[in-house]
Order: sequence, then C-alpha cells, then structure tokens
Amino acid sequence: MIKEEINNKIKMDEIISFAKRKGFVFQGSDIYGGVAGLYDYGPNGVELLNNIKKSWWYHNVQLKPNYYGLDSAIFKDPRVWEASGHTTSFSDPMAECRACNTRLRVDKVLEGVGVDADEKMSEEEINKLFYENKGKIKCTKCGGNDFTDAKAFNLLVKSNMGDFAEQGNSPVYLPGEASQGIYINFKNIVDAVHPNIPFGVAQIGKAFRNEISPRNFLFRTREFEQADTQLFLKPGDNDKEYEQIKQDRWQWYKQIGLSEQNLRWKQHNNLVFYAKDAWDIEYSFPTYGFDEIEGVHNRGDYDLTVHSKHSGVDLSFIEQSTSERFIPHVLETSMGLGRVFLAVLAEAYTIDNLGGDERVVLKFSKELAPVKVAVLPLLKNKPELVDKAKEVFNMLLPHMTTVYDASGSVGKRYRRQDEIGTPHCITVDFDSLEDDSVTIRDRDTGKQERVKITELLKILT
Ligand code: GAP
Repeated sequence: MIKEEINNKIKMDEIISFAKRKGFVFQGSDIYGGVAGLYDYGPNGVELLNNIKKSWWYHNVQLKPNYYGLDSAIFKDPRVWEASGHTTSFSDPMAECRACNTRLRVDKVLEGVGVDADEKMSEEEINKLFYENKGKIKCTKCGGNDFTDAKAFNLLVKSNMGDFAEQGNSPVYLPGEASQGIYINFKNIVDAVHPNIPFGVAQIGKAFRNEISPRNFLFRTREFEQADTQLFLKPGDNDKEYEQIKQDRWQWYKQIGLSEQNLRWKQHNNLVFYAKDAWDIEYSFPTYGFDEIEGVHNRGDYDLTVHSKHSGVDLSFIEQSTSERFIPHVLETSMGLGRVFLAVLAEAYTIDNLGGDERVVLKFSKELAPVKVAVLPLLKNKPELVDKAKEVFNMLLPHMTTVYDASGSVGKRYRRQDEIGTPHCITVDFDSLEDDSVTIRDRDTGKQERVKITELLKILT
C-alpha cells in the first residue's frame, strides 16, 4: 500500500489509543473507571496544548496592537447568565426512549438518518421532523422506537459558591461559553486602556456544558477550553471586518500545519439566539468526517445591550474623533482548543517507511512539537559520553523543551522521538569527545548532519 492509502485508512480509535500510550491524553478520573466527556492532558499533551495556545496568543494579541488580553474568573454573578439568555435559551433538544429511559439528542439522531436538523430549531420544528422520521430512528441502547417528545434540555452546569444560593440568589453557573467574561469587562477595559474603535479583546477560558451524550473523544466534552476574540466595532463596519477575520483565521490554521484540503467553511442556516450571522470552520477528522472546530459569529449589539440593561451600567462607547455615542457591535471568533488539538494530532499522525522500517511519526510543525530536541549519548555505560551528552542537554534546556534519552539502541530512541514528533535528535559519540561535534538527525527525512556543539543553538532556534 502506498503512504497516502495507509494514511487515508487511519481510524480515530487508533489515534485515541496512541494518544493515551504516548502521554498526550488520558480519560478523566481513569483509576475510578473514567468519567465520560472529561479528559486530562498528559506530559506530551500539555506541551502540545500550550504550544497551540502560545501560537494563537501570538497571532491574536501580540501581532495585533488593537487587541488586548483578558483572563476573567470562572465564577460569575448568576445574573450574567440570565442577562446573556443562557438560563432560558442555551439548550439541546432531548427525547427519552420509553422502553429503557435512554436519552437521545434528537438533532444528532435526525442528522444520523440524513435529515438536516440542528439544536437551534424550536421544539415545534424539531418535533415535526422527529415524527416525520420516527420510522427510521432506533434507540441507541435497546433498539426500540417509542420516544417521548423532544424537549429543550438546558446545558448550563450549576455549582455552588459560599452561601450565595442560601441568600436567595440563583445558583452560580459554570461558564457555558468563555466570551461572557469579555462582555462584562468591556467598560473596565475601555476605562483602563482608552482604546480607539475597532478594538478587540482576546481570552482563553474554560467552558462547561451538560452534554448528555459526550462523544468522539475530545470533540464533544463536558469541560473544554475556548480561545475567543471579540472585536468591538462601530455599527455598519461589520461586513469588511468579518471577511478579514475569516481570512485571518483560515491563515492561522494553515500556519499551524492543517492542510487546506482538510478545512472548509460552513454557514449556519439556523442561528443561535445571540447571532446575526455565523460561519464555522470545519476540519475533516479521520472516522468522524468534517465537523466544527471554530465559530466566527456576528453577534450585533446583543451582548452589550443585554448587559447594559440587566446591570444598569451604560456600556455605550464614545468615539473620540466624532464624540458619537453608540453600543458597539461584536464580531466573535471562538475556537475549541480540544477540537483543534485533536485536528493537529490527526493531521500529524503519519505512518511511513524510513530506511526500510515502517514507523509512526507525528509530523508536527516545529512550533507545535511538544519536545523540540532529544539528546542521546551513543552508549549509556560510557561515563565520558554521558558527561558530554549532559553538557549538551544542559546547554539547550533553558532555550527549548529538551529531553535526555539514554535507554535502548539509538535506532529505538529515534523511533521513540519520531512517535512524539520531536523534530531533532542529537547524538553524542566518541568523535564528539575529540572534535566537539555532534550528529543532528531530522525527524522527517532521517538525514544526519555533523555540526559543532557551539553552532547547535543557532541551528535549532
Ligand atoms: N461563544 C460562542 C460559542 O461558545 P460555540 O459554537 O458554542 O460558540 C465555540 O462554541 C467552539 O467551542 C466550537 O467551535 C467548538 O470548537 C468548541 N466547543 C463547543 N462545544 C464543545 C464541546 N461540548 N466539547 C468540545 N468543544 C466544544
């Protein structure tokens, strides 16, 4: 089989078990049997996740002088979620099997039998489709097809904090979306940094959703991170900026190594309660096919208007040059970090043939690779080689994620590093003791070059 054919046949199950074996992702609360929809990032996973975040922050805050960063608290006054509409309108349509009480997400079940449905439809609309197609739908657990009507099931996760609820307040909620932290800080940011409009605010924050059927590994989880930007602009300036933002986001996905053939845009037919226009960037996952990794939304003046009304604080903006006062409109980008992590992992996961050996190699971009370089003494039982390798390791350590690996043959160590996507391995051998040179091996080509130790940092950075 040629390389493309092998890689086209890669299944998500294979990537999921690989991710666990190689310390990228573990099932949440694994030793207690695991909890569905919760995952922990292992030693290699957290490095990859942090590198994705760093790249996103660099491109969305550092390179954009009119964007400001924020990190808002997870707990918020419950009125935030009432004002935003999440306590009433943030829901999925659920029905229950009358035979075994299993709950089904009706929009997903309908999609599964080829019907164009989504969670933003009204109860009436989705029930109409549900009845028309009942003959084709079976309970995922018992195979029966006698169901209750679909009802809206609210996705907010409730929590408690101090004696908040006992004092007669609503329960506190965990964030259903990270973006609300930005809207409620709009005035603080304007007063603190006096930006001209348009200006943006960027935040990476946790979101929690009571997903009844979390599925597809990191794709639909109950706890996840979102990397959001909210651009505040003058009403009427939306269209040009919207196109620019869409182009920027596309470029960033290419920059982190996702290939264009695996990406596409999809416009929403049914809009969520806050949106005026919405496009998703979708990625073609092995096994799952194309699905959303990021939403780009035109939210109009919805958010600042509702928070002005509910808080009693005026969230209008006065433009310095014209003294005009208005409620800014919002263009949002909201990326699910878990989904992008999975897309990056799937894109990098390659089976190829190097020097006659079939190997698994993660072809991450150098920017995203969890480990940048591995230092290997040729033999671990020769103290002079170990000392020299440790010297090289200690020299590189403050500058990049570096590992020291002395166990097994050099060939085995190369394979181990290929599997976690380390772009370079450096081997210290007996000649190194004489000429202060080492061998540097490239992950993708296997090509080896002899370089001076004094040149290493320059070459690697
Ligand atoms: N603030 C807008 C917002 O939250 P969304 O389309 O509901 O919009 C944005 O979510 C992104 O968050 C999605 O594109 C997806 O990548 C990610 N996301 C949403 N629900 C998720 C879930 N249950 N598990 C993992 N990621 C999720």
